Amino acid sequence: MKKIPVWIDTDTGVDDAVGILTALKLEPIEVVGVSAVAGNTYQNNAFRNARDVISLGGREDIRVYPGAERPLVKKLKVAPHVHGDNGLGEAEIPRSKAPIETTKAWDALYEKAKELKGELVVCPVGPLTNIAIAITLHPDIVDYIKVLNIMGGAAIGGNVTPCAEFNIFTDPHAAQTVLKSGIPVNMCGLDVTLKAFLDDDDIAEIISYGNKASDLFRDSNHMIYEARERVHESGLAEHDSCPIIFTAYPELFEGQKCGIYVETQGTITQGKTVTDLWSDYKFPDRHCTFILDVNQPEFAKLIKTAYKSY
Ligand code: RIB
Ligand code: CA
Repeated sequence: MKKIPVWIDTDTGVDDAVGILTALKLEPIEVVGVSAVAGNTYQNNAFRNARDVISLGGREDIRVYPGAERPLVKKLKVAPHVHGDNGLGEAEIPRSKAPIETTKAWDALYEKAKELKGELVVCPVGPLTNIAIAITLHPDIVDYIKVLNIMGGAAIGGNVTPCAEFNIFTDPHAAQTVLKSGIPVNMCGLDVTLKAFLDDDDIAEIISYGNKASDLFRDSNHMIYEARERVHESGLAEHDSCPIIFTAYPELFEGQKCGIYVETQGTITQGKTVTDLWSDYKFPDRHCTFILDVNQPEFAKLIKTAYKSY
């Protein structure tokens, strides 16, 4: 069966690394490119981490491109309290030996999207800055990206403010550009990602594999784990694995078509993804789907199977 070509745009933090290492092992998809963006950590860390995680996954053939060092308008505010100063929870892994790409993310993504003639699925799992720049510099990219399967937003709730999720809050202007572009979107927001968790048994099982991927999982997750303890979450939410596993196995998820736009100006609501899911008023343009539920045991099993194979 023909594999789905996937491009991952990442602010290579701890859960991003889980998503990337899982992506490399999912049968239905083929990662054809990766790009780094500032978000969880500075772009230079995200770029280095993406290269090193791809290398740790044994795929130095996959090219990794540098991207935006700051949001379009807002100042960058990284998240060392969750992802550490280096972006990987202070875990150290070997440096990639792959050649260092200098082509910018937005140009490399455009070229790959054109090359694949509209078949490319893009999974942004960080702020949408690179995607927005690509749309602005190369407007016809909207004809070549099949769908954006995004980790971001929340129909209800937030994790940076009561109504905004980190990726969208970090660069709401980029998110608005992307959502107004007309490219079809499957939005994996907190509504589903907080249900897409690894429980304590799953975590223990992954660590028990004792391979290089599971050692990175063990060594990088302690800050997120402690944060989970503080907020009493039921498990370790693997936010960034959601759009990636959705791309490979959409049947494990449930969603609803809707319109989604972003509040960019609000003093309290900035970064909120405004959706017409539960509103009598429906946006005229409803080219998105909000993903709202997941088969968590099967989701966790796919991550465990991927990690066991390293
Ligand atoms: O809100 C969760 C998102 O913010 C994830 O992508 C995580 O990596 C951070 O970027
Ligand atoms: Ca991320």
